Amino acid sequence: MSGNKPVESLTEAEARRELARLATEIRLADSAYYKDDDPHFTDAEYDALRTRNSEIEAHFPALKRADSPSDRVGVEVSDAFSKVEHGIPMLSLDNAFSEEDVAEFVARIRRYLGLEAGEELSITAEPKIDGLSLNITYENGVMVRAATRGNGQVGEDVTVNARTIEDIPKKLAGSGWPDRIEIRGEVYMTGDAFNTLNETQEASGKKTFANPRNAAAGSLRQLDVAITRSRPLRFFAYAWGEVSGAFAETQTEAVAKLSDWGFVTNELFAAYDDVAGLIGAYDDMAERRAMLGYDIDGVVYKVNRLDWQARLGFVSRFPRWAIAHKFPAERAVTKLEAIEIQVGRTGTLTPVARLTPITVGGVVVSNATLHNEDEIARLDVRPGDMVEIQRAGDVIPQVLGVVDADNENRAEPFEMPHTCPECGSAAVREVDDKGVSDVRRRCTGGLTCPAQAVERLKHFVSRKALDIDGLGAKQVELFYTKGAVKGPQDIFRLAARFEAEGLPPLSEWEGFGETSASNLMAAIDARRTPPFQRFLNGLGIRHVGENTSGLFARHFLEWDAFWSTVKKAADGDTSAEAELLSIDGVGQTAVDSLKDFALEPHNIEMLESLLSEVEVEAAKAASNTSAVSGKTIVFTGTLEKMTRDEAKSRATALGAKVSGSVSAKTDIVVAGPGAGSKLKKAEELGVQVMSEDDWLELAGL
Ligand code: IVH
Repeated sequence: MSGNKPVESLTEAEARRELARLATEIRLADSAYYKDDDPHFTDAEYDALRTRNSEIEAHFPALKRADSPSDRVGVEVSDAFSKVEHGIPMLSLDNAFSEEDVAEFVARIRRYLGLEAGEELSITAEPKIDGLSLNITYENGVMVRAATRGNGQVGEDVTVNARTIEDIPKKLAGSGWPDRIEIRGEVYMTGDAFNTLNETQEASGKKTFANPRNAAAGSLRQLDVAITRSRPLRFFAYAWGEVSGAFAETQTEAVAKLSDWGFVTNELFAAYDDVAGLIGAYDDMAERRAMLGYDIDGVVYKVNRLDWQARLGFVSRFPRWAIAHKFPAERAVTKLEAIEIQVGRTGTLTPVARLTPITVGGVVVSNATLHNEDEIARLDVRPGDMVEIQRAGDVIPQVLGVVDADNENRAEPFEMPHTCPECGSAAVREVDDKGVSDVRRRCTGGLTCPAQAVERLKHFVSRKALDIDGLGAKQVELFYTKGAVKGPQDIFRLAARFEAEGLPPLSEWEGFGETSASNLMAAIDARRTPPFQRFLNGLGIRHVGENTSGLFARHFLEWDAFWSTVKKAADGDTSAEAELLSIDGVGQTAVDSLKDFALEPHNIEMLESLLSEVEVEAAKAASNTSAVSGKTIVFTGTLEKMTRDEAKSRATALGAKVSGSVSAKTDIVVAGPGAGSKLKKAEELGVQVMSEDDWLELAGL
């Protein structure tokens, strides 16, 4: 891998590959951070990805991608809120990590403005609040709209929710405000409010938040305004967007006006004349950081004169007149007591470092993530070692390395268990088609593993699998918690299971009456002959989802024929494996995963038990004569005559292949209203495009 090579020594091919990888990683990280309020990386790791991307782009300008992360701020907005276009885009800030970076920022500005050596350049400093930015529009002094940043151009309309925030004036105080003005600032939650919120969440069995920033984001982006109202959100105003007329000459004057109009502005805001002044402000804020009561992750410097800000303008995502000087991650040394393995709800084994508790930047840390076994090997951390840990922002602390590696009494190198600590099933690392092994080790126990059971059972009864009326995620969770349903087979023996566990009959449970209980029993009975494709999909075997299950079903038709081939393949029969692989659309990854499943005795037991309750319905042979047989089809836009799922399964039943993306291999694109980039791509590639009606006719539906 070229990830650690100096940029200068990358070959062009390596640089291209790395830019592609970085584009994906940054997009995923952005999405986790902005949309799901659930960060994957520490701030420092994230910044490192972006910095690396920019460095490679600077060195290989020709390789810069059309979807380069450097041209993008934040993430696409979610569908849940209506969209609002900002009057002026909401941009991001470039980062400075050292005094040199700050000096360079100031020097660059002086050069750009052509200032003489003695000419004064006033720059403001204020804390960088770790929250989420909000754009609030005022018309004639009245708040009319509030929107999140979204992708920078278009945000989400959260007006109703923002009105619950006391720090945000619904009507501007004082006078002299422009007729129309966008006020910008940061919504945040104090540390105290965050702790209280998490305690209540925990007590009521709800999801807790990783840090105050996520709590603030999750609270603001609530569809139920009553929830937002119950969360103590705060707001600092620090900037503005579109304005109908000038209202100040400097940043200092503008911020004073914001305060006059009723906004809360930050008391640490001040202006300085030189780099030394800025660094002094930075050191001062770093020192006060732990006492502020809210999270800050750096200091923002802004050119004070607004006419100079206007002259300096913007470069891609950043204003040239402002920069964020980030605080370094905080570190400490402590003892690694043990390495424990956690099994996630989908079966991933994650090693966790249990530490002798230690305070890092005002927070007590007793756990840190070790990510995966490759990371453990890279760090060579062993139980008993003294390790250096780092807390950046508020994401889970990281282990940086061992500080007493020359200690003679160290434990043996750590070995990741090859069986799941929860259920004892084999835990494996997948190898992809290119022979690259996945960094994660996964439990193959699936439905039989207690750590995964609930998630897997939910999938088993879901719409695309067994689709049992009246038995959804909620009921499965309930039956599982009561001990009545431990595996899928138990669903078909509910009455007996209740009795065995000493539980009353379903009709006596809260929320179930005679009718709903007997309806549920009837709905379950109605699914005792599940179609092959749904049944296989329901087992939740990795890489054997709805589509792949359909491919197996249409090839083998009978469940027994399929299953005996899988078992033979798992036992090393190469011709059986070859048969599985001969199916168009089935790859080695899916076959490996099936083999792993079949090699695990727990799974065999579960399957046999399940098959004593249900009889899998054979699939129908695909008609080879259909006009669309063998064609690759992409559906895009809204379909009006049938759901997307139905269209897909009808197409595959006719022998067509359905794909999610358009390429030169696509034969037909069926485009409904609202079709966008896929339609455009089809047109560019000259792929046949048809309406839903044309498609129905062609397919004989
Ligand atoms: S000024 C055009 N000031 O940091 C510059 N931003 O990384 C507008 N932020 O999107 C931003 N505290 O969400 C500014 N005192 C502050 C800030 C601040 C936090 C956030 C803001 C922005 C992000 C940029």
